[in-house]
Amino acid sequence: MRHLMNPLDFTTEELDRLFDLANDIEKNPEKYAKKCKGKKLATCFYEPSTRTRLSFESAMINLGGSVLGFSDAGSSSASKGESVSDTIRVISCFADICAMRHPKEGAAMVAASKSSIPVINAGDGGHQHPTQTLTDLLTIRSLKGRLDHFTIGLCGDLKFGRTVHSLINALSRYEDIHFIFISPEELRVPDYIIEMLKEKNISYEEVIKLEDSISKLDLLYMTRVQRERFFNEEDYVRLKDFYILDKAKMELAKDDMLVLHPLPRVNEISVEVDDDPRAVYFKQVQYGVYVRMALILTLLELV
Ligand code: CP
Repeated sequence: MRHLMNPLDFTTEELDRLFDLANDIEKNPEKYAKKCKGKKLATCFYEPSTRTRLSFESAMINLGGSVLGFSDAGSSSASKGESVSDTIRVISCFADICAMRHPKEGAAMVAASKSSIPVINAGDGGHQHPTQTLTDLLTIRSLKGRLDHFTIGLCGDLKFGRTVHSLINALSRYEDIHFIFISPEELRVPDYIIEMLKEKNISYEEVIKLEDSISKLDLLYMTRVQRERFFNEEDYVRLKDFYILDKAKMELAKDDMLVLHPLPRVNEISVEVDDDPRAVYFKQVQYGVYVRMALILTLLELV
């Protein structure tokens, strides 16, 4: 039995197979419409979510399976003090596969160690968000035709943004990736990631101004400032509008640069950018359903 805790749990060859499957699902959805008949997905979300939870549920329904779960720790027995380990043992009696989001780093790993069904980490604190990374990689591969030879700018909250941490890890395995980290001083990429890049001899630079780097980018990954991970509101308010991608900045960018964002967006991308063909963050959401369908099929060994 296999779980997904980190995008690196899959080799790049396994990822290629997963993305090929996701692209086939996109082209031939009817072929997959009954693949999960009789199977159940539990979504155990101890933290708020729109995309991840609903795209998992949509994915399972598209595959002919059913869904159950909770979307708020307060409505589960976690509010009475039940541990994640006990909860997953119980969920294992009800479902065939579980997607779990939790505010504590490592919670999904604890669940996986006690589970008798595959567990998917749907976000653990500020640590990892592997299925968002699968979504990001599938979007890039589908729209650009490759996952190597890119200059990618990651902009915004690079300290707390778990999608950023997962994406850097995942892209660091591909050839000729140059990272440009664009953040205020207080929200820089954690040291352990910088150490990993240095060890692997992967090129990166850290800058503060988006305008100074945007013209070099093939991909721009915007992120919101993660209010829920700040210790005080004052710091959040000071930093929340540090970056706003607008039409004027988009004019400085390459004609084929893609703008990605894991969403939700707050103010960091002006709505006037939404109609720019380079803005692909809503397409990215759709790719998220295809890749979660492919992931469910793979972990349930139905392909
Ligand atoms: N991208 C993402 O994780 O969105 P949700 O928080 O809405 O699931």
